[in-house]
Amino acid sequence: MTTVNGGSYMHVTSRLSSQFSSNEDDVLDVSSATNSIHEAISQESWYQQTLSVVVVGASGDLAKKKTYPSLLKLFEENLLPADGIIYGYARSRKSHEEFRRHLLPHLKKTGTNEIIVKDFLSKCYYHSGKTYGDKSAYADMIGDGLVPFEESTKNTVSNRLFYLAVPPDVFGESGVVIKTHGMSTTGWTRVVIEKPFGQDLESCDALLQTLSENFEEHHLYRIDHYLGKEIVQNMLMFRFSNSFWEPIWNSDTIESVVITFKEPFGTDGRGGYFDKYGIIRDILQNHLLQVATLFAMEPPKNEDADAIRDAKVEVLKSMEILSLQDCLLGQYDGYSDDPTITNKDTNCPTYAAIRCKINNPRWKGVPFILQAGKAMDEKVCDIQVRFKPAKSFPSMRRSSKNFLENAPAEMVMRLQPDPCISLNLNIKSPGFSTMPTRGNMVMRYEDMPNLSNPDAYTRLLLDVIRGKQGSFVRDDELRFSWQIFTPLLHAIDDTKVRPLPYRFGSSGPANREAWMAETTKSVLPLQASL
Ligand code: BG6
Repeated sequence: MTTVNGGSYMHVTSRLSSQFSSNEDDVLDVSSATNSIHEAISQESWYQQTLSVVVVGASGDLAKKKTYPSLLKLFEENLLPADGIIYGYARSRKSHEEFRRHLLPHLKKTGTNEIIVKDFLSKCYYHSGKTYGDKSAYADMIGDGLVPFEESTKNTVSNRLFYLAVPPDVFGESGVVIKTHGMSTTGWTRVVIEKPFGQDLESCDALLQTLSENFEEHHLYRIDHYLGKEIVQNMLMFRFSNSFWEPIWNSDTIESVVITFKEPFGTDGRGGYFDKYGIIRDILQNHLLQVATLFAMEPPKNEDADAIRDAKVEVLKSMEILSLQDCLLGQYDGYSDDPTITNKDTNCPTYAAIRCKINNPRWKGVPFILQAGKAMDEKVCDIQVRFKPAKSFPSMRRSSKNFLENAPAEMVMRLQPDPCISLNLNIKSPGFSTMPTRGNMVMRYEDMPNLSNPDAYTRLLLDVIRGKQGSFVRDDELRFSWQIFTPLLHAIDDTKVRPLPYRFGSSGPANREAWMAETTKSVLPLQASL
């Protein structure tokens, strides 16, 4: 039995107050924009109500590395209601104190002031159960923990957020028990779930079915943390609030779009998981595809969550189903030495480049390449947009033998490590020369004053609490994305096609550049240099 004393989230820094008086429209001044989020939130009803958060799978990696640090950040920034409690639920037996000690090192890593961390931890409790669907354990946690706390606050409305930081095979049992024991009777109940959302279309459908038996779509928040990254969150504003983009954001002007993810480390002890999924399911079918749909979508009818997701779904509907011919696969040398990988003859790709075709009037003929790799030469994720070469300008024709002088304009939107947007353009060489040279215009986020750049999980968790579903993956989006990828994934699984080897720490399989050139129909290597 666990009992919790009533308490509040009140901590050492002052709560929101009239000091935040800036105008929400003032988007140029970053500090004002940060303050205006406080202003907006303080007007929202949930902020004055009680919030109970339950982190299911609380002792796992995701919870300690992402979920709790993000909750801490929101707490530190006064972005959680004053009356709140956070319960961790998992299978291992621990006291509240032991659990707090387990979280402490991970929270310290965030650099948050120790007093705030201590204050935050005093709101954190723990309960264990035999399974993730253990009815009596949930009943105890809710009856003896959440309910007395909620009743001890002065609020009449208590909202509940369940964060499922557990593998998908237990979503079902957790969902059932949340439905029977966990739903708030006075406020909203929201359930956050993490990928993998299946392994193919069939398993995705099974998962969607299990969840829909217990919840409606408005209860469910499927997290893809790439949707919480600054550059991705900026995509709609960038595209649609600058009028000059729309006339050129199409196949008339854009030659190719390459979205790249690279990591300099391998499976890092996650080989058991990774070998079942591979790089396509781990990164391409979700993170990079999400980025691509936001890049490619038509202007949404309005800014509502469903209008945005409707527009993304339209892109997915126009994408051709992928096959083996559309991709280049690689596996880094020594991949199967990972002791957690049992199949030493595994053909699991750790690198993949895929050519996607979007057959709609805006994008017909423009290759969208999504490429991702582990154990590569750097950590980077960016979108490279290559514009078509100018045909009519005499100097460009005269210098056509030289790459540097004839390079078409490019734009790079870098998600990480240092978010920025860069335009590489042709300019006249300064001085007497009339020949073209390259000029670079860069907008770096790190140069912006008073920049607040919260982690993707922190932003998305706040969206969940605010009830904003626009940056979460809707059920139909998920189905379409699996529809596009499933035949390719089955072909890799069934035909035992061998990925090409590449050296740990390299830029991928040897013929990567040739494949890229052939696929983008360009003899010029993409140059992402900023
Ligand atoms: C996860 C993948 O979704 O994203 C990991 O499962 C990957 O394999 C991680 O390392 C990358 O996230 P980020 O935010 O570090 O780019």
